[in-house]
Amino acid sequence: MNTVKDNSSLQLEKIFPDAEDFLPLNGTDYVELYVGNAKQAAHYYKTAFGFQDLAYGGLETGLKDRASYVLQQDKIRLVLTTPLEKGGPINEHLAKHGDGVKVVALWVDDATKSWEETTKRGAKSFMEPVRDEDENGYVVRSGIHTYGDTVHIFVERSNYNGIFLPGYKPLNSEYQPSTTGLKYIDHMVGNVGWNEMNKWIEFYAKVMGFAQLVSFDDKDISTEYTALMSKVMTNGNGRIKFPINEPAEGKKKSQVEEYLDFYNGAGVQHIAVATDDIVKTVVEMKSRGVEFLHVPSNYYDDILERVGEIEEDLAPLKELGILIDRDDEGYLLQLFTKPVSDRPTLFFEIIQRKGAKSFGKGNFKALFEAIEREQELRGTL
Ligand code: FE2
Repeated sequence: MNTVKDNSSLQLEKIFPDAEDFLPLNGTDYVELYVGNAKQAAHYYKTAFGFQDLAYGGLETGLKDRASYVLQQDKIRLVLTTPLEKGGPINEHLAKHGDGVKVVALWVDDATKSWEETTKRGAKSFMEPVRDEDENGYVVRSGIHTYGDTVHIFVERSNYNGIFLPGYKPLNSEYQPSTTGLKYIDHMVGNVGWNEMNKWIEFYAKVMGFAQLVSFDDKDISTEYTALMSKVMTNGNGRIKFPINEPAEGKKKSQVEEYLDFYNGAGVQHIAVATDDIVKTVVEMKSRGVEFLHVPSNYYDDILERVGEIEEDLAPLKELGILIDRDDEGYLLQLFTKPVSDRPTLFFEIIQRKGAKSFGKGNFKALFEAIEREQELRGTL
């Protein structure tokens, strides 16, 4: 096993000997969702999740075909985009997928080189390098396709001092609910079709220079009824982590299959956002109307025997349904929202890491059983 340099604490495996962090990626720049009504979606993410106004692009700023609201909370930037015209690619995306993630934008030093290197290694181009400028400088962006209709846009912004991108103005409405303590994107998970996981693992290794972090198989992640397989890819500095799931054969329909049915193909399943105080964050989000999945209370009966000592009081964790898991390096606390739209597709994870670098494998069974109860109510199990 070749370990990736400068990151000895992460357990990485280069599955292609020539994989290297050639881009490199500085972090997630923004996540763009195509939604049916960006104005109302922005209200939801501000009110319920505690995002703050950052920027707006639309008719008033010279964008003719769309309106985009850019929200921010600490290092997380969310772009909510809705089409203004009939037809066109945004409408097609919405009709096929419903509200969902279109763009996972990655912050790079050189968007032109990022496009050249990834397309040379086999990525399908979404957007050739484009330079946009205004009085605040210039931004270079380029893009490639990934799973389903999802794309990665490389953003080079070292010569730009504006609020977001050229074509956007500051957004500053009177309504400014407080934050909920969300800090940064910890990982983003993709659901892909039957037998496609390894193809996309290979894509991130070959095309993006990622390494494999950990792998699970369907024995790790299955319940009596449903199963899935998952592998996690990461870039060299560990700031970008993409687990990829595919459905596995079970007695009944797996949650990944349900996602694929309603999203009409592969796409982003969940966005995991980190907090320093999960109890405070979840209390706040619940009071603002965010719905979370609940595990049965017997989950907590022998929890400390399973995960060992933790710093937090167990009572509030149990009351809020927060899950706990431990690996060799520490533990983590996590909780999952119900899907954020009517289609059972995209949801969020709230995660607080206390040393653990894994993804809550010990919680998968309890979690999947909670999801299955929801699937049963939808008649999709
Ligand atoms: Fe996750």
